[in-house]
Amino acid sequence: MTALDARTDPATTLRFPEGFRWGTATAAYQIEGAAAEDGRTPSIWDTFSRTPGKVRNGDTGDIAADHYHRLDEDVALMRRLGVTDYRFSIAWPRVQPTGRGPAVRKGLDFYRRLADSLLEAGIRPVATLYHWDLPQELEDAGGWPHRETAHRFAEYAGIMADALGDRVATWTTLNEPWCAAFLGYGNGVHAPGRTDDLAALRAAHHLNLAHGLGARALRGALPASAEVSLTLNLHAVRALTQAPEDLDAARRIDAVGNRIFLDPVFHGRLPEDLVRDTAPVTDWAFVRDGDLEAAAAPIDSLGINYYSPSVVAAGSSESPSPWAGAERHVRFVPAPGPRTAMDWPVDADGLHELLIRLRDELPGVPLVITENGAAYDDYADPSGNVKDPERVAYLHAHLAAVHRALEDGADVRGYFLWSLLDNFEWAYGYSKRFGIVHVDFATQRRTLKDSARWYAEVIARGGLAEE
Ligand code: FCB
Repeated sequence: MTALDARTDPATTLRFPEGFRWGTATAAYQIEGAAAEDGRTPSIWDTFSRTPGKVRNGDTGDIAADHYHRLDEDVALMRRLGVTDYRFSIAWPRVQPTGRGPAVRKGLDFYRRLADSLLEAGIRPVATLYHWDLPQELEDAGGWPHRETAHRFAEYAGIMADALGDRVATWTTLNEPWCAAFLGYGNGVHAPGRTDDLAALRAAHHLNLAHGLGARALRGALPASAEVSLTLNLHAVRALTQAPEDLDAARRIDAVGNRIFLDPVFHGRLPEDLVRDTAPVTDWAFVRDGDLEAAAAPIDSLGINYYSPSVVAAGSSESPSPWAGAERHVRFVPAPGPRTAMDWPVDADGLHELLIRLRDELPGVPLVITENGAAYDDYADPSGNVKDPERVAYLHAHLAAVHRALEDGADVRGYFLWSLLDNFEWAYGYSKRFGIVHVDFATQRRTLKDSARWYAEVIARGGLAEE
């Protein structure tokens, strides 16, 4: 069927609004490879992945999906899928290797080339400035717990806006600052691998500050029509029961998982209960006058990454934890039902709940799903097919949840599927496959999975057909 037939096909039961953005997402360290080429220096993820025991099988992003050398092929794949948008991230150490001073031309050229070939293919480039690959030199100088890093980020944001602002109109400052702060500095499962609650809280604050200063720098260099955004992995947290102790456990996780970013960014304040809960760790004296106002620089949309919800009850969890002390009061309860290869529960209602909450709490803020997807143990069969019915079911259910939220009045503008390609899944290395395109990492051969063909049809239809 042609795209036009698909759009008018009566079998399309859940139609998305005209102009809805259908994208795929990736991140630099997870796909680019070329880790030491053209002046790129190590990021904290290069260092971390080389540290024995940190990443499964000792995998690194040295080669990854070799996207740095296969940009044309990968853009051609996206053109085949018919995506309207592509969300990628810029590797800070590729363009500003020491995290300060002038940019490296070859690094900038790569992203210029990427943006140009996307535009040429009719795909809107959506650039994220920080998807966790801090230049190692900045970590050596103190990393995100250190205030100066926020100023370094603002300088880098300005450089990128100057270099790419003529061709990239949609910008995201940070991807998932919660993970950067609390997995990076709290429980240490992500780079740089520190386990220090105070460092994690300081990092969270300086990421909020970096976001605000970065947004201001972007605005200073971009045309007024540019879109500036932030992506959060908000936790869809549910209390196991309505007992006050369980509700309090959910409140604590909401404070340190969600409102620690939402309140500074949208209201220029810190949540009072968060300050109370974290009193054993810090008095927050590192927050200076004007910081919270800076963090609240106006943005045009909020990006949401959603994979699964959390269910919590009163109790306690293991330490070191990414919860800055809340783990002493909170037990995480395994949710029932099917799970992905990450062992994450499949629960599309959590996405609907999150979107409805944001509809109510942030009226007037357009929402974009900047990541959603699932890992399964995919393989290419001898005839070159990759059958991934579980992924199709996962995506179908989550898109249906987005559609339901739209009907309920949530202002959702787009959906970016994580991920275009199988890639380096952080501490899991190459053992987890999130792509709708299979990558054979020995040969770098790309093969469309069934889910890629399914997504192409969804895009062509402008919605979902009956299952
Ligand atoms: C998110 C990350 C992304 C990817 C997915 C599975 O937390 O932003 O890079 O690893 O999880």
